[in-house]
Amino acid sequence: MFGFTMKVYGCQMNQYDADKVRTALIARGARETAEEEADAIIFVGCSIRDKAEHKVWSELGYYGTRWAQERRPIVAVTGCIAQNVGADMAGRYPWVRVVSGPRHIGFLPEAIEAALLTGKRIMNLDSDPRELHELAFAPLVRQYPWKASVMISHGCDNFCTYCIVPYVRGRFASRRPEEIIKEVSQLVQSGVKEISLLGQNVDTYGKDLHGYSFAKLLCDVAQIEGLKRLRFMTSYPTDFTQDVVDAIASHHVICPAINLPIQAGSDRILKAMNRRYTVEEYASVVKIIRDHLPEVGLTSDLIVGFPGETEEDFEMSLQALQRFRFDLVHTAAYSPRQGTPAAKMKEQVPEQVKNRRLNEVNDLQTRIARDINEKLVGHRYEVLVDGKALKGNLLQGRNQADKVILFEGPVELKGSFVTVEIVSADSWSLKGKLV
Ligand code: SAH
Ligand code: SF4
Ligand code: F3S
Repeated sequence: MFGFTMKVYGCQMNQYDADKVRTALIARGARETAEEEADAIIFVGCSIRDKAEHKVWSELGYYGTRWAQERRPIVAVTGCIAQNVGADMAGRYPWVRVVSGPRHIGFLPEAIEAALLTGKRIMNLDSDPRELHELAFAPLVRQYPWKASVMISHGCDNFCTYCIVPYVRGRFASRRPEEIIKEVSQLVQSGVKEISLLGQNVDTYGKDLHGYSFAKLLCDVAQIEGLKRLRFMTSYPTDFTQDVVDAIASHHVICPAINLPIQAGSDRILKAMNRRYTVEEYASVVKIIRDHLPEVGLTSDLIVGFPGETEEDFEMSLQALQRFRFDLVHTAAYSPRQGTPAAKMKEQVPEQVKNRRLNEVNDLQTRIARDINEKLVGHRYEVLVDGKALKGNLLQGRNQADKVILFEGPVELKGSFVTVEIVSADSWSLKGKLV
């Protein structure tokens, strides 16, 4: 049987797909090996911004020398990037032997085996954005045995004008609740304590099913015996409904942690982005959340330098950060994606201006987050321990609100719940001591 290496980029959607593929290949007898020994390298790549795509492009050339001598390793490209530029990658590098769109991962294990066996090139692109070939495996082989994600819907129909996702992940389709519950149950039985439900816009879950909603799904999953924490992402401001807040408030298992991307602080830019809300409408959703969930961890996403963004528009984004005081903001400079409406808009913002604005929002948000975190000194939290922190000798874990918490303790605690009292804080994490 063959050896494979997986290289995963992008968001939790790709991570989830990668873990499914990994589980399926191992179940079929393949082994995960070091890159130098692998017969197949599987890239699960992201196309959200040019930089993300560039990471995979820049690694592909590397396999040429070994390929010339051994015809190994073959490279398989999947994830969002495959749908966007997989064909170009195969055109440029002869060792790219398999390309699979994200809606074709059900065929990926066989495709890799066939390519290794026959030497044939296999292209499984999602030419029909509704077609769907799922991989019938729960993601059982993962980095963290006690944490897992489960995708609840495929694709996205929102077509925000900057975004490539609807083009690479196809049309929105909810997975059936029975299927989701079965997968979560299987994961929980295998030792998982924390589940994250994934969708590009979780609030539209169920709109293509009859009489079933996201809030209902949350409540049904929360009831699965043995599950300790339930998370979800991403929420779309004007699709977000009160019943989701109620579900969180009435189930201890459902974490009060909400990612509610604002994307811009100017109504004019929001409109050009095809985000279907104004800043005031966004504010009313935040109010519902904060009124009912005082302990909420509220995070957001923000793009700077969208085409036509003036200094005035940009100021409004800074004001929005001051007004909403998010715990964390994923910020990015706008990156034109070929084929999306925004890429064709006139008034593209120059690179230096985008970078300056990005630094400004990051500086402001760093101060806001530090201020929020410093107020948490003295609080006690239940923390699920992830293991050693990247730097230093401390352990790292997260509380219900998804705050990163660092503390001293034995590494054997990883995967378990502990109580930590916060003693100091910075913009990115809280430091505490075991109670
Ligand atoms: N479905 C989610 C997340 C989608 S992608 C949502 O609606 O928010 C994650 C984030 O990447 C987005 O929230 C957005 O802030 C960012 N993003 C998407 N396309 C981008 C682009 N072309 N340039 C810069 N950032 C982008
Ligand atoms: Fe992209 Fe918008 Fe869909 Fe999010 S909601 S994935 S930003 S199109
Ligand atoms: Fe995620 Fe990147 Fe695809 S952010 S949905 S992996 S384009």
